[in-house]
Parts: sequence; structure tokens; C-alpha cells
Amino acid sequence: MVTAEVNVIEEAIAQPVANAQVAPQIGLEQYYSEAGPDYAAWSREFNMHFGYYRAGANPLHRESMLEQMNAEVLARLHLDDIAEPRLLDLGCGLGATLRSFARRLPHARLLGLTRVPWQVEHAHALNDAAGCGERVRVIEGDYEDTILPRSSYDGAYAPESRCHAHGADKGALLTEAHRLLRPGGRLVVADGFLGGDRFASALQQRIYRKLCECWVIEELGQLHLFTARLEQLGFMDITVERLQLRVAPSVAHIPWVTLKFLLTDVVCGNRKMTRARWNNVLAPVLLPLISAPLGPMTYCMITATKR
Ligand SMILES: C[S@@+](CC[C@H](N)C(=O)[O-])C[C@H]1O[C@@H](n2cnc3c(N)ncnc32)[C@H](O)[C@@H]1O
Repeated sequence: MVTAEVNVIEEAIAQPVANAQVAPQIGLEQYYSEAGPDYAAWSREFNMHFGYYRAGANPLHRESMLEQMNAEVLARLHLDDIAEPRLLDLGCGLGATLRSFARRLPHARLLGLTRVPWQVEHAHALNDAAGCGERVRVIEGDYEDTILPRSSYDGAYAPESRCHAHGADKGALLTEAHRLLRPGGRLVVADGFLGGDRFASALQQRIYRKLCECWVIEELGQLHLFTARLEQLGFMDITVERLQLRVAPSVAHIPWVTLKFLLTDVVCGNRKMTRARWNNVLAPVLLPLISAPLGPMTYCMITATKR
């Protein structure tokens, strides 16, 4: 068989997700510093995650679905019996979830970690404007290797930040979260995972790689490896909720938000469109093409308790 024919056949065969690592061209700090202000087009509160749709809610109201995601994460931390909970946001972005929790838990002490100095600075400004005071802090740090004291948090959570961690099982992040939680403390993660073991086609795998490159992700992480790692570390009560349908109404906002952004910020805006900013325009457009039901990516909320 000639080489061209072999290539055509290989292209047509579904690719295993296990071979799907990417080496992003732009660093995380550069990406979030340059594209950071553009997240205002998605959420005026700078919620840098998808929304959670509850029956009866208005699917046209994106901000309330984004806020509902915060509420769902909080509910799964099981903090009702703790008078002054200590909580850790692993990858806090501009601190929207911290501020949401601060409003809902007047006695909680909240700490957010991000690797991006630009986000620390702007999260401080947003926290001050919201009157959060001393009990909400944001610091620069790596959630895979912190200098924070062990067993010191009642809960830790990561809405759409775990994807940036290393490895298909996100082992370094989970090991650190386990170290930082007190026994009985809860971990809540909401994010996209590779739930199936194959891409539908080589083209779909290429789209996945492009999306990862755009959002500075080495690999999304595989669901079964992630939960196996939780178990191996000694977490118990591990629960996986597949939320594809819950996030779909907010995902459906992407075409409109993108179009509006192109008109207002690209055509009429005066900030230079850098590669990082273009990446953040392209990635959400690619997302539905690799997500269930078309592809192996699936949005999950995973909760676990430290033994
Ligand atoms: C998509 S944003 C999500 C932000 C926030 N959780 C939210 O929902 O609004 C991803 C965040 O993860 C953070 N992040 C990625 N890798 C990290 C690491 N190794 N240590 C700390 N933060 C990290 C980024 O700095 C960014 O703030």
C-alpha cells in the first residue's frame, strides 16, 4: 500500500485519548494576563466558568447560571455544621467564586490561589470594591506545590482550573489538595474531563489539541484515572455527576458572546488583538465539537472527602 493510502486510513481511524498531550505555545501567565480582561464579555462578575442550569431558571440569563455553579460547588462542600469554615480556591481566577462564597458565608475565611500575578492584582481590586475585607485573600501560588500548612482547610474547590494541572490523573494537584485538607474536609472539582477512551476521528483529536493549545492545557485529564487517583490517595465518598446537560444552556451562549465580542472589542476596540486573545475567541467555538454527544469530553462535578 502506498504511503498516501496509509495516511488516509490512519486519518479515518478513531484515536485513543491516551495519546492526546499538547505542548502549549503560550505560557499560562501570558495567556491569562492578555486575555484576562476579555472574560468581562462572558461575565460581568468575572466568573470564568460555565453555568449550572436548574429547572425553572431563565436560560437566557447567563450570569445567574454562572452564579448557580458557585452555589452548587458550595452546597457540595457540606459546611452547614462549621461555624467559621476555612476554604481554599485552587485556581481562583479573578476571585468570582470567592466573592460569591463570602456573600453566602459571612464567617468563612477564604483563600484563593492563582499562578497569574495580573489576576492577583485585579482580584484584590474586585474584592475591595465588593467590600470583602480581610477574610478573603488572593495570593500567587502553584496549586500543585504550595507552602500552605497541612490539614488546614475544611474545604477546597476548583471550578475549571484543574484542567491546567499536570498529568492525565492530575495527581500532583490531588496530592496537594489531600495534604491541605483536614480529615473530613471536602474537595469539589467542576470541569471538563475526557470521559470516553477515543476521539471519533483524527480530525476531532486535532480539534481537541487546538483547543488545549488555545487554553494552555497540556491534557484535560481522564475521568477514570482522576477518580482512581482520588481513591488511591485515601479520599472516600467519591461522587461523579455528569453535568453536560446542566452546562449546555450556558454553552449555548458562546456564539452570541463571540459575535458581540468580535463587533465590540475586535472591530471597534482599541486594545491590540494578541495571539492569546485570539486563542480565547477560538477555544469556546471548538469546545462543542469535542464534547458529548459528539466527542469524549464531558463536564463533571466530582466530590470527595478526606478520610
Ligand atoms: C479558567 S480560570 C478559572 C478561574 C476560577 N476558578 C473561576 O471559575 O472563575 C483557571 C484558573 O486556574 C489557575 N491555575 C492554573 N494552573 C494553576 C496552578 N498550577 N496553580 C494555581 N492556579 C492555577 C489560573 O491561574 C486561572 O486563575
